[in-house]
Amino acid sequence: NKIHYAEITISAVSPKQYPNDGLPEVALAGRSNVGKSSFINTMVNRKKLARTSGKPGKTRTLNYFNIENELFFVDVPGYGYAKVSNAEQEKWGKMMNIYFSSREELSLSILLVDLRHHPTDLDVQMYDFLKYYNLPVLVVATKADKIKKSKRNKHINQVIQTLELATGDKVVVFSAETREGRDEVWNEILASTRN
Ligand code: GTP
Ligand code: MG
Repeated sequence: NKIHYAEITISAVSPKQYPNDGLPEVALAGRSNVGKSSFINTMVNRKKLARTSGKPGKTRTLNYFNIENELFFVDVPGYGYAKVSNAEQEKWGKMMNIYFSSREELSLSILLVDLRHHPTDLDVQMYDFLKYYNLPVLVVATKADKIKKSKRNKHINQVIQTLELATGDKVVVFSAETREGRDEVWNEILASTRN
């Protein structure tokens, strides 16, 4: 999967600004700092396309990345960052509701969780929210480079059980450091956009 073209199209705050060229969209959901922006960079082989940071709360808008004029990655602001004001959290909630409940172009929602830890209550809520709208979800368990191989299965099972993963939804183990899981995720994305 060699990517030749990947550029940011727009940082959208309202639906009016969403692109209207009808390309399928792959949205990245997950808590703040879990590695959504790093995930995008790994998928497209670019170090700094999506801005990453050691500080949570970096991504504040719906950032649309055009990939090969074939699809968009939509980098979504992370949840669970304590220092965000209530007003801002409410704005976030509205933006998420509008996007996930009504976006026709959405072909796959990728929920990123940290393979090291049990999914948080907010991860579970996010997963339930996506399932409430009957959206296909691919769970990507990232930062796998931080887990010993011998502990892996235990952690994967923790993710499956805590989220109460629905039949048909998959977990892919991923690392932005080692690029593990990249090909598998591309296969899932391409399968979803061909429907
Ligand atoms: P927000 O935009 O705040 O929601 O965060 P985000 O989910 O986009 O996270 P981001 O990609 O900015 O990554 C947060 C931190 O985790 C950065 O310091 C990354 O370098 C680190 N990180 C991301 N993915 C991995 C991974 O697979 N392995 C390791 N070891 N570190 C990672
Ligand atoms: Mg980000």
